Amino acid sequence: MHIDEALTKRRSARAFRADPVPREVLEDILRIAARAPSGTNIQPWKIHVVAGEVRERLEREVLAHRETRPPDEGAEFPRAGKRKEPYTSRMRKLGKDMYTLIGVPKGDQEANWRQWGRNYQFFDAPVGLILTIDKDLDAMSYVDVGMFAMAIMLAAKARGLDTCAQGAWNNYWSVTRRVLNVPEDQYIIFGISLGYADEDHPVNTLVAEREPLEAFATFHGF
Ligand SMILES: Cc1cc2nc3c(=O)[nH]c(=O)nc-3n(C[C@H](O)[C@H](O)[C@H](O)COP(=O)(O)O)c2cc1C
Repeated sequence: MHIDEALTKRRSARAFRADPVPREVLEDILRIAARAPSGTNIQPWKIHVVAGEVRERLEREVLAHRETRPPDEGAEFPRAGKRKEPYTSRMRKLGKDMYTLIGVPKGDQEANWRQWGRNYQFFDAPVGLILTIDKDLDAMSYVDVGMFAMAIMLAAKARGLDTCAQGAWNNYWSVTRRVLNVPEDQYIIFGISLGYADEDHPVNTLVAEREPLEAFATFHGF
């Protein structure tokens, strides 16, 4: 697959088939993704690859916790950014388009809450990835982990696999930390669902729009 094809065909999948993904394929994807660049080559990424019984336990414990408790205090790693325009409008459009496709009525808090909970089932994907980072590192290292994550998603796509990055895993991090034994010196940043997309599910027909080039690029010296 040409890199442009992987880039354009990758879309967040939010419904997966049960078909397992062999460990060797996952190892291959992670080895190649670790070719991602990082500032001064510090390679700050750490990843927990979760499947089978552990994946089921993680899902069960996070969902049970979520029934009775709010998200863990203030997100674990620093997330001080404020939501403002144009970001709020883009976020609302995505939410509206997605919930229309799945048939969640506007304002139905209960259905909304249930659908968001699908995050903690990895949307039924057989594999969940949880990315963590050393607490001492700064914002530049989070950029590195983002690059690693994108490399994973593209390497997966090139092998016929689909993914969904999930900031949702930054909520309820206390449960994830306990179930996966994530060391105290690591922040849990986000997760990725990985598997074969259920092509027949309406949610997977969603194509999230992008702004035109002029909206984000400033050319100098041309
Ligand atoms: C860091 C990050 C966190 C995300 N968190 C979630 C999430 O928690 N749940 C979800 O359904 N999608 C999540 N997404 C997917 C985005 O909504 C998606 O990438 C965006 O709408 C663009 O759509 P596309 O990936 O299909 O191109 C996340 C994406 C990124 C990069």
